[in-house]
Amino acid sequence: MPTVLEALKNRSSIRSYSDKKIPKETLEKILIAAGMTPSGANMQPWVTYAISNAETLKKVGDAIIEKMDAGITSDQHIQYYPVKWTNPYKKRRIVTGAGLYKLLDVDRKDNETRIEMWKDNFRWFGAQTVIFVFTAKANLEDSEGMLIDCGAYMQSIMLAAQEFGIDSCPQGSTTEFGRVVAEALEVPDNLALLYSVVLGYKDENAKINEYQPARVKLEESVTFID
Ligand SMILES: Cc1cc2nc3c(=O)[nH]c(=O)nc-3n(C[C@H](O)[C@H](O)[C@H](O)COP(=O)(O)O)c2cc1C
Repeated sequence: MPTVLEALKNRSSIRSYSDKKIPKETLEKILIAAGMTPSGANMQPWVTYAISNAETLKKVGDAIIEKMDAGITSDQHIQYYPVKWTNPYKKRRIVTGAGLYKLLDVDRKDNETRIEMWKDNFRWFGAQTVIFVFTAKANLEDSEGMLIDCGAYMQSIMLAAQEFGIDSCPQGSTTEFGRVVAEALEVPDNLALLYSVVLGYKDENAKINEYQPARVKLEESVTFID
């Protein structure tokens, strides 16, 4: 069983999965543990759909891919990525993307392959379970705090999954099509999609799963005042 530090260090975004299903009891244990995530005023603002039904996942994924094919780049409740990228974040994004394409021998100018790779998000990278996290739209009307709580909840899911040898990939790509997801899942109209997390057992032979982008040095992101 990994320690918390090991789980933090060993987790990485996995983008190719075997077809092995996660037992329902295991999924419940992960989500019960994640439900212990702290939240301001104990509001627990996450509203979670844990979907392991292949037909439903295909329906959601196909609906997004259909939009993409029609030239629609987003249809969302919240804007996740910056509209205007600034450094150092812009540079980190480019370096991270370039590293993945290099590992897979994909030319950066090969847009067709890159679009197909992006569409793999909506085929859930072959995973059998996807967690969709919504919050009440009312929570986002005059504040952003729920995003902090639901972000912590995301990490809890991914770390708890590690204990069962289950890997994950967080997805802002679905955030960009939040309205499409909500419609396909027929969720109540008062909910806004924040993100999804793909969960499953990794394909041990997939090269893409070797990718582990580096992090900045401690001094670059932390100021100690002793
Ligand atoms: C909120 C969030 C959204 C993300 N969205 C996507 C996504 O849509 N597709 C994807 O392949 N990776 C996505 N990622 C994974 C990041 O690219 C990844 O976490 C980052 O490059 C660091 O790599 P690591 O997770 O392997 O350590 C997302 C990560 C986060 C936290």
